[in-house]
Amino acid sequence: MIAPHGGKLINRILEGPERDALLARAKTLPQLELDAWGLSDVEMIAIGGFSPLQGFLGRADYESVVTKCRLANGLVWSIPVTLAVSQAQAAHLKGDVALTAQGTVVAMLHQVESYTPDKTKEAEHVFRTTETAHPGVARLQALGETYLGGAISVLNRPKAPTFTPYRIDPKDTRALFEQRGWRRVVAFQTRNPIHRAHEYIQKCALEICDGMLLHPIVGETKGDDVPAAVRMKCYEVLLANYYPKDRVILAVNPASMRYGGPREAIFHALIRKNYGCTHFIVGRDHAGVGKYYGTYDAQKIFDDFTPEEIGITTLNFENTVFCIVCEGMVSSKTCPHSAEKHVSLSGTKVRELLQAGTPPPHEISRPEVAAVLIDAMRGQATAKA
Ligand code: ADX
Repeated sequence: MIAPHGGKLINRILEGPERDALLARAKTLPQLELDAWGLSDVEMIAIGGFSPLQGFLGRADYESVVTKCRLANGLVWSIPVTLAVSQAQAAHLKGDVALTAQGTVVAMLHQVESYTPDKTKEAEHVFRTTETAHPGVARLQALGETYLGGAISVLNRPKAPTFTPYRIDPKDTRALFEQRGWRRVVAFQTRNPIHRAHEYIQKCALEICDGMLLHPIVGETKGDDVPAAVRMKCYEVLLANYYPKDRVILAVNPASMRYGGPREAIFHALIRKNYGCTHFIVGRDHAGVGKYYGTYDAQKIFDDFTPEEIGITTLNFENTVFCIVCEGMVSSKTCPHSAEKHVSLSGTKVRELLQAGTPPPHEISRPEVAAVLIDAMRGQATAKA
């Protein structure tokens, strides 16, 4: 079994008397209410999805991650996992702090270290832009001006109301892979309904791996992305109709989407290593948004590190489309035909078709997936009326 990043799967969930004692103390501490993003970070840290992080980054780690793509100890880490508050809030948050959700204590943040980040520098390094049209930069600029670092201990893990059977923690995906005897496990990150290109690259990877962890992000995503609940239905119908049951595990990734392109590709890969996967798919414009990143930047960034430093093996894929002459999914590596032989539609065009109740061509989307999306859009339209 592949080792987690940093060698040890982190577990920051306390139980038993230790938990009871901290819970009693938490009631006497200053409190900070978490938003959905903060809760998702707390969960990912607690279950080891963000191993080796034991909490939110302190200043030394933060600065090193921003400028060097490494923690202060040199371990590769590409995305700053931070907890932002206003200066006024920070003045009251010293020592240990109770983190709450709807007033209930979720976790304790130990020995808070507060510091002022240089957000412009963070945006330049992490997002490669300071434009607020980039959703990651916009979010960053809207956050409070002080960051709180410190290890966390989860005292009451919030019960997620959604996707219950698909919430599988890293220790449990690891156990499942072992049970199934999977030695080479490929992970697929996604924030979109799965179209034929996704399916093709997944199946190429499955040809050389024992199994796949289909691992869609269900934390916070930007407003115009398809909601996670709709995507989950798409994944279910796709798996039911086109994949062998014993080769795929569908589980949700509770993390939030950063839209950090190359930096986020590394983050995504390390998270999946923590879940026990040995291989990770990076296609075209992975975790990209708008025109901020080159088509294959998210593949190239891995060359800045040794394979040992990353630990999980990336499987890179070119842009893939359906070719009517080849009669199958292809890329520029496998097909000599020109673009007019390729069935491709812009995301906007696909949305227009779906909104009109018309399934996109089967070379783009499986009809079962299109039906789920059309249904969801009808529901949205009715809700708005
Ligand atoms: S992402 O933000 O999670 O990367 P998406 O869900 O669209 O977005 O993509 C999931 C994975 O499939 C990413 O690795 C992405 O690079 C890859 N991908 C998406 N579309 C294509 C395509 N047409 N050809 C090759 N790879 C693709």
